[in-house]
Amino acid sequence: MCNKLEVTPEMMDSFMAAINENKKKPGPLMPTLHKAQEIFGCIPLEIQKIISKELNISISTINGVVTFYSRFSTEPKGKHIVGVCLGTACYVRGSQDILDAVSKELEIGVGETSKDGQFTLQATRCLGACGLAPVFTIDDEVFGNANKDIAIEQLQKIEAEN
Ligand code: FES
Repeated sequence: MCNKLEVTPEMMDSFMAAINENKKKPGPLMPTLHKAQEIFGCIPLEIQKIISKELNISISTINGVVTFYSRFSTEPKGKHIVGVCLGTACYVRGSQDILDAVSKELEIGVGETSKDGQFTLQATRCLGACGLAPVFTIDDEVFGNANKDIAIEQLQKIEAEN
């Protein structure tokens, strides 16, 4: 299924249960895609086909949504997504330093996932929080007025929790 990712029958069972649950509600596509990303770590074509059949939505519509939103991916992603804003306001306030430090700490480049599967690093466009520049995110949490020390500290905090 996903490259480098083993899809177990348990994962598939839990995914099908989520689809069946979502089918009963209006607007089942987004919650189903969120669940797929959460369970499989990515939403490859094979999974999109299942969603298409179960929800009766065309593959092209599903693929369009998956590729539009950065939180969805057709390739495996880490458990945590670290995003460093390289928009103008953040860049002039030193976000490249944050990106370089995170890249060094995790030993990965932009778009890559750490070997332990914990982190995927992304460089993002303006997140609409320029007043807090420079900004980075870890999953849904936004860190403003940041610097590389704050970023490394947050990563180490997550690593320590594992
Ligand atoms: S440029 Fe980074 S939040 Fe706007």
